[in-house]
Amino acid sequence: MPEPTDRRYGPAPLPRPRGPLSTALVRALRRAPHDLAAGLGGDLDPADPLTDEDLQLTLFLCYELHYRGWRGVDEGWEWQPSLLALRARAERPFEAALRRLVGSPPVPSGGVAAGLAEIVAADDGPPLAATLQRHADLTQFREFVAHRSVYHLREADPHSWALPRLGGPAKAALVEIQTDEYGNGRLDRMHAELFRRTLDRLGLDTGYGAHLDAVPAVTLATNNLMSLFGLHRRLRGALLGHLAAYEMTSSLPNRRYGNGLRRLGLDEVATRFYDEHVEADAVHEQIAAHDLCGGLVRVEPTLAGDVLFGAAAALAVDRMFAAHLLDSWAAGRSSLRAPAPRTISVPATALPSTAAGPLAGVA
Ligand SMILES: [Fe+2]
Ligand SMILES: [Fe+2]
Repeated sequence: MPEPTDRRYGPAPLPRPRGPLSTALVRALRRAPHDLAAGLGGDLDPADPLTDEDLQLTLFLCYELHYRGWRGVDEGWEWQPSLLALRARAERPFEAALRRLVGSPPVPSGGVAAGLAEIVAADDGPPLAATLQRHADLTQFREFVAHRSVYHLREADPHSWALPRLGGPAKAALVEIQTDEYGNGRLDRMHAELFRRTLDRLGLDTGYGAHLDAVPAVTLATNNLMSLFGLHRRLRGALLGHLAAYEMTSSLPNRRYGNGLRRLGLDEVATRFYDEHVEADAVHEQIAAHDLCGGLVRVEPTLAGDVLFGAAAALAVDRMFAAHLLDSWAAGRSSLRAPAPRTISVPATALPSTAAGPLAGVA
């Protein structure tokens, strides 16, 4: 198995297991592809699948085989039948919990775009963005960025799985959005690369998957949700609804995140990722609701409910994520399972004076 020459782009090293199932899976993945023990995961019945560390990590381990894979893990595992069977067993309680959480949002007479607008308007999530703008200290901001790095370092990839599954107006709209997300083909403008610079400015490890061991189940769940929707063609409506919900709730929070970093003394290189989204997502919001989701439903009317389910699920899991961060901070705790890995050496000029101190001596 060739080793990656640049750890920025993955594959990430296998994360540490979090329970019996992920322990068995990580152990198996270190070996050549083979049949997993019969019935592995057959007794899965977590009390809360969305926050169950072992279940969410198991799903993440399986899904990542379809993204960058894992460092040192044989690529043949991606389609190993017994691993796919395990993934299916792990997906069942996950999807059931999502459906319990948001039900089946009704499609209003105004159509799917109106339904999306209703779901977004009703989203009264915990005030994470306002807290980061006004009150969070640098340690808390670093935690937030470490959580988000799991998604932002591969931003847009899960929604790209919809492309070969669509035709017509929805496909054109998705290409228009994704083209921006991927920097119009310019590496230095790809949103994932803009985010890497934010991580770097904050003195955090910029490697793909570098913060996996630090983030809890709820953060993995926000990512596994996109992978679940992205990897199942039957859930393509939910995948587009998920993207629409993200685009429709992005502009204002990103303005706040950028302002929070400026308040903490970070420069425009650090805030560029967020600043870029203020403008871009004000446009994407319209494309996503009307051209993407509206376009899909004009061709496949029966998918309207799925679109709204995906949007509602995206916002509901994000509310759980926001509540976890704010509750942890209110209790004087870190929201991470372990400290976020830092860069070994940070140029003193890259950080404001308030940021340079805590980094001293950090490896
Ligand atoms: Fe983006
Ligand atoms: Fe966007």
